[in-house]
Amino acid sequence: MRHFLKETDFSREEVAGVFATAAAMKQSRGRHTPPSLAHQSWGLLFFKKSTRTRVSFQVGVAELGGNPVMLNADELQLSRGETTSDTARVLSRYLHGLVIRCYEHSLLEEFTRFGSVPVVNALSDFLHPCQIYTDFFTLAERWSGDSSRYLESLKGKKIAFLGDTACNMANSFILGGALLDVEISLSGPAGFEPGEKIIDQLKQDKLSPTWSFTQDPAEAVRGADMVYTDVWVSMGMEAEKADRLKLMQPYQVNGALMKAAKSGAYFMHCLPAHAGEEVTQDVLDSPASIIFDQAENRLHTQKAILAHLGAANRG
Ligand code: CP
Ligand code: NVA
Repeated sequence: MRHFLKETDFSREEVAGVFATAAAMKQSRGRHTPPSLAHQSWGLLFFKKSTRTRVSFQVGVAELGGNPVMLNADELQLSRGETTSDTARVLSRYLHGLVIRCYEHSLLEEFTRFGSVPVVNALSDFLHPCQIYTDFFTLAERWSGDSSRYLESLKGKKIAFLGDTACNMANSFILGGALLDVEISLSGPAGFEPGEKIIDQLKQDKLSPTWSFTQDPAEAVRGADMVYTDVWVSMGMEAEKADRLKLMQPYQVNGALMKAAKSGAYFMHCLPAHAGEEVTQDVLDSPASIIFDQAENRLHTQKAILAHLGAANRG
């Protein structure tokens, strides 16, 4: 059984296929979508808040001919002590697949161990692979007119990621960047460097690192083709809010920092954004900002991921 818990669960060749499918689905949306999930019900199980992921998966499953079943973790017996293993076994009797947003990444792994249906990571504290595939797809769309050459258009490009460089998005850039040969230059305060877990993951996947870390944001953005940031206080980190806002202030993406990047560099953010914290409103609204293309592309990319997973599991 194939799952999609991390960037490297698909090979480079499979990512190329997912991107081509996403481009085709984007083009033909509203006219024709192959009904990859016909006669299937997929559970969308959320332990954390979500706007984009939740709605784009709900719409995406339906557009692929499937029945999306929204499951708020607070409303399941899980929240009253039923075990993850029993929940995984029970849900597998009703559903054909599960999309899960959670805290510990190990919960996703537990679902794959005890359940018998494919599991898709809709964000864990460790990784956000659906977002990173979307982000690379969004850039490739800009850098290549030909969807069969999307991966080539990414090769050797430089991305600067500023702020909380120990968060799930930074980890996903580290892993996705190594998979697709993209240089990832991370910059954040001391104490927020990428952790052991992501370094071990690269080793496990036998990938050469393409990332570097500096505390100097100007150095990180120099020569960057795209500048990225994410919230300074990820879901679950609220207790550290005051400290984080203070420590990360020098890493705010503002007009001056964008000017220090390569001319024509894009600005991206997975959203939700906190204007005035990790990014200024003028950068969010600038022509360099492609944040809403990014948000839209979640739908197309995730539909392609689901279709690919279905095909891979059919063999
Ligand atoms: N980018 C993202 O995952 O957004 P949501 O938290 O709204 O799903
Ligand atoms: N790092 C953020 C991403 C939100 C999409 C979080 O985990 O809250």
